[in-house]
Amino acid sequence: MITVESVSKNFNGKPAVDHISFQAHDQEILVLLGTSGCGKTTTLKMINRLIEADSGNILIDGKNIRDQKPEELRMGIGFVMQHSGLFPHYTIRQNIAVVPELLKWDRKKTENRTQELLDKLHLSEDVLSRFPDELSGGQQQRVGIARALIANTPVLLMDEPFGALDNITKADIHSEFKSLEELKNKTIILVTHDVQEAFELGHRICLMDKGKIIQTGTSKEILYHPENDFVTDFFAENRLLLEYKIATLKDVGDFLNSNHLLNEFQLTENTNVWEALQKLSSDHKNTDHYENLIRAFNGYRKLQIV
Ligand SMILES: Nc1ncnc2c1ncn2[C@@H]1O[C@H](COP(=O)(O)OP(=O)(O)OP(=O)(O)O)[C@@H](O)[C@H]1O
Ligand SMILES: [Mg+2]
Repeated sequence: MITVESVSKNFNGKPAVDHISFQAHDQEILVLLGTSGCGKTTTLKMINRLIEADSGNILIDGKNIRDQKPEELRMGIGFVMQHSGLFPHYTIRQNIAVVPELLKWDRKKTENRTQELLDKLHLSEDVLSRFPDELSGGQQQRVGIARALIANTPVLLMDEPFGALDNITKADIHSEFKSLEELKNKTIILVTHDVQEAFELGHRICLMDKGKIIQTGTSKEILYHPENDFVTDFFAENRLLLEYKIATLKDVGDFLNSNHLLNEFQLTENTNVWEALQKLSSDHKNTDHYENLIRAFNGYRKLQIV
């Protein structure tokens, strides 16, 4: 769906993005992950031509973006800017309606769609008449997301969309985000420096460093088959937690000596081991199950690390 081929961008003679290549597939969430300054925002902005690449090619649905007018290109791409990027002198209602105005939607259509998005993103109607600086950072980010979703574009680019949220609110929004039906048929490139967020939301992850892509793969590939020491070191701090989170009950099923777990505790095969352990740890009566699950996980884990 989106193909980036050997794309580079220099600022004042210094490479910000250095010959990067990757693909984002149809209906996939691809995460660009990396520390501050590694070139994530620059990469994202080249895809909708807010920044022009110096060299290389970017294709969306097989069409080179260079051959399209930037305005027309952007009609097909929802964009969530880092730090929400709302216009300070527009009310929230006006901010959300920027793209519908360009598309010349009638007032009723814009109103209905705005209302629908407010509901989905858990924003109350009274924010509409306020200005961005009269909202909390997290509310501003959700308005930024609403603005990017309103025209229902097939492609969505999101630059640290949850960066202003505390961990508790973030966890809530992540699960809502994953269950939003309207995201399921889109190709999404999501930028973050938050390792847990990348693992939580990404179908695949591109790990970047100093303008280059170091490794692209699923969370399991990146964690269990790191391309080099940089990748290993990058995840070292969170490693065990991430391993618990990417293993599902299905994965460790062969090592569990009973099937009670699923029925008794309303868990599914897709529940991750971390979640299951948390559920079990709430009551000491479940100690046996808890220990069994840890044992099963360790059995599974041994086979992954080769
Ligand atoms: N307009 C610009 N002019 C000069 N240098 C720039 C410009 N935009 C970005 N850079 C530089 O390019 C590099 C990559 O910047 P970029 O914004 O893409 O990083 P990032 O990965 O998004 O970082 P962060 O996580 O802090 O948002 C940085 O060294 C930055 O200073
Ligand atoms: Mg950035």
